Amino acid sequence: MLNDNTAVVTGGSRGIGRAIAVKLAGLGADIAIIATRDSDRAQDTIKTIEDMGRKARLYVCDISDIEAVNNAVSQIITDFGGIDILINNAGITKDKLLMQMNEEDISDVIDVNLKGSMYVTKACLRNFVRKRHGRIVNISSVVGLMGNAGQVNYSASKAGIIGFTKSVAREYASKGITCNAIAPGFICTDMTDKMPKEAIDAMLDNIPCKRYGKPEEVAHLAAFLVSDEASYITGEVIKIDGGMYI
Ligand SMILES: NC(=O)c1ccc[n+]([C@@H]2O[C@H](COP(=O)([O-])OP(=O)(O)OC[C@H]3O[C@@H](n4cnc5c(N)ncnc54)[C@H](O)[C@@H]3O)[C@@H](O)[C@H]2O)c1
Repeated sequence: MLNDNTAVVTGGSRGIGRAIAVKLAGLGADIAIIATRDSDRAQDTIKTIEDMGRKARLYVCDISDIEAVNNAVSQIITDFGGIDILINNAGITKDKLLMQMNEEDISDVIDVNLKGSMYVTKACLRNFVRKRHGRIVNISSVVGLMGNAGQVNYSASKAGIIGFTKSVAREYASKGITCNAIAPGFICTDMTDKMPKEAIDAMLDNIPCKRYGKPEEVAHLAAFLVSDEASYITGEVIKIDGGMYI
């Protein structure tokens, strides 16, 4: 289904990003992973994809550094011959009550989650416009829609991603480029492992499906949004949260 496609997955070394990278590779895409550092897990993801018979490469790059992003994306275009799919997945949290948040807690989260996603998208756009084809999927969060105590910085970054998604969708729909957002609820990864147990238990009470989500479930949705079948869907925000925010 995705044969001859190249997908860039930011934060693809682990968690949701890894699941999306592996899923797209399973559908035939070659994969460029952008991550902050080379790690055993990043190498394991690369090897998993190569074992599936697909090309995979790691690009070490901090997405909040626009120059580093431009260099990484140019290198990917040289190495793979172009880009068809961009998954803006990399993200961080620095959870605290707003009264306790310092300037760095706010700027780091906005810089990576929101500005970083814009930098990578901007760097890929010329290539998409030239091909008159592109699929962009931004990983937002349900807390960008509903807010969350202790996550003012994070929820603002994820709400920003929704506005960014809708604006990109409007700007580039006529060029064959779709841009959609996925808003996951609670998905078990390193990011959620960092949360206090009481907060995790309290969250389960508010999930009608009474379970947490899996990265692979988010990956299935991303795979649909980048497929030809989804070519008439753009500017959409799709929640995948077991009913957490209805
Ligand atoms: N896990 C959840 O419950 C959940 C819910 C909603 C949204 N999300 C979002 O899904 C995405 C993936 O989350 P996850 O749970 O897999 O997290 P994770 O912490 O397991 O993985 C995050 C990935 O982002 C990369 N990354 C972080 N900062 C980066 C930077 N500056 N430059 C490049 N790469 C960077 C990391 O290297 C890592 O590969 C994030 O955007 C997160 O906000 C997660």
